[in-house]
Amino acid sequence: KVLILDFGGQYSQLIARRVRENKVYCEIKPYDISPQEIEDFNPKAIILSGGPASVYKEGAPDCNNIIFSGKWPVLGICYGMQLMVHKLKGKVQRAESREYGVMDLKILQEQSKLLKDISSPTKVLMSHSDFIPIPPANFKVTATSKNTPTAAIESDEKQLYGIQFHPEVVHSECGKTVIKNFLFEIAGILPDWNMDSFIEETVKNISKQIGNKKAVCGLSGGVDSAVAALLVHKAIGDNLTCIFVDHGLLRLNEAEEVMEAFEGKLGLNVIKVDAGEHFLSRLKGVIDPERKRKIIGNEFINIFEKEAAKYGEGEFLVQGTLYPDIVESGTKTATTIKTHHNVGGLPEDMTFKLCEPLKELFKDEVREVGRKLGLPEHLVNRQPFPGPGMAIRVMGEVNEDRLNLLRKADAIVRKEIKAYDKENKVWQYFAVLPGSYSVGVMGDDRTYQQVVAVRAVGSEDGMTASWSHLPYEVLDKISQRIVNEVDGVNRVVYDITSKPPGTIEWE
Ligand code: XMP
Repeated sequence: KVLILDFGGQYSQLIARRVRENKVYCEIKPYDISPQEIEDFNPKAIILSGGPASVYKEGAPDCNNIIFSGKWPVLGICYGMQLMVHKLKGKVQRAESREYGVMDLKILQEQSKLLKDISSPTKVLMSHSDFIPIPPANFKVTATSKNTPTAAIESDEKQLYGIQFHPEVVHSECGKTVIKNFLFEIAGILPDWNMDSFIEETVKNISKQIGNKKAVCGLSGGVDSAVAALLVHKAIGDNLTCIFVDHGLLRLNEAEEVMEAFEGKLGLNVIKVDAGEHFLSRLKGVIDPERKRKIIGNEFINIFEKEAAKYGEGEFLVQGTLYPDIVESGTKTATTIKTHHNVGGLPEDMTFKLCEPLKELFKDEVREVGRKLGLPEHLVNRQPFPGPGMAIRVMGEVNEDRLNLLRKADAIVRKEIKAYDKENKVWQYFAVLPGSYSVGVMGDDRTYQQVVAVRAVGSEDGMTASWSHLPYEVLDKISQRIVNEVDGVNRVVYDITSKPPGTIEWE
């Protein structure tokens, strides 16, 4: 396995993704990890990430010298390289002009191990204000760029390698090859980590952790909690009870589909709590979006807690926490574990022990595990769906009639966009009920009915998003179907706001 030390780089998680794509297991740790912790981790190689600091400034992130002792192959990226140079008595200094963007990298030495099989020049992403005028003794310079005499340095003897560019981003054409060269040619690691071995090992660990005790898991219909439950079920069988709180704010037929998949096909033990009426009664007359969210979140916890207590010997609570939830880039905070809860924030006084079998995985890895464990494709690829459900897609008061109307329109939106977006390129799409009315004409009659808005956005992570440029034909079909098939709607509009300034959800 590979140890990645995080110096606060923007792309640290991407480095991990690139390593794992090569079927090599890795973990990100804070830069100031102790020598003992490194020994315990027992890495086959170490990668030092980039970071925003300057090595010669006071208080700059520093790591233990043992890292450069020659004991492990080390690849320093950007700041990581500069730190290596600084500590080995080379020179790092501020550049006259910052180098940022995609640049030509010129390879100087054909025998370079790190840059093997890369043709020169090649495009790489540079992002740095410091540069290295003089490398440490015994390092050879193997590549340059316009503003950097030392874009890559190598010491085969000490197994130390540094690159000024970012191999982890797609803009660096040769990035994948550089990482491969480091892992396989230099460090001699075997690519043997895959989802099958992950499943096997994780199931073993869960059996060890939970033994013959009981566990409960909140199912939301989302992929994370589903895969976590499947893994635990594989380990402890019917000692796992899943609790599915149906708050009545799900999409058309969603609750039935979740039950059918989990209880039927997958054979999990699922307790469904029908709390729709209860939630609606609590939401009566509530208009403010934040109040809606609070009420739903609190009720959800109350019900889940009460239900979980019934399976009270259940000593373990299974959660679908993922790796990105745990690792926050930003140096020292890297190991801070967020109290992140998929079911909407569980109270601190719960007496359960946590079982988080996905906490080392990225989302696409979770999906792959889900597939291997037989999770149906529509659940594997389920779009993000907010905990408060359709309550925050119905503007104004939430009641059964308005929810039903929105469900029908939403089912049409999803069916039509799905038919077009076969490769799941659109991040998220759904219908919204803005609560406004407009005049229309149907047959010979004047109508005064509701407006439905269609939302479809592209995004990488939900933090920013851009509205999807769907073909007019798709929008046209959606519009025609909604006004024809959904009673009470005479107008359909398309939301052309990106995030920022709009959020993806309307409330
Ligand atoms: P916004 O509306 O903030 O949404 O741009 C960003 C992403 O988060 C989802 N979302 C939620 N997910 N609980 C969740 O689990 C919530 O309360 C919640 N609110 C928004 C939203 O669907 C989008 O993918």
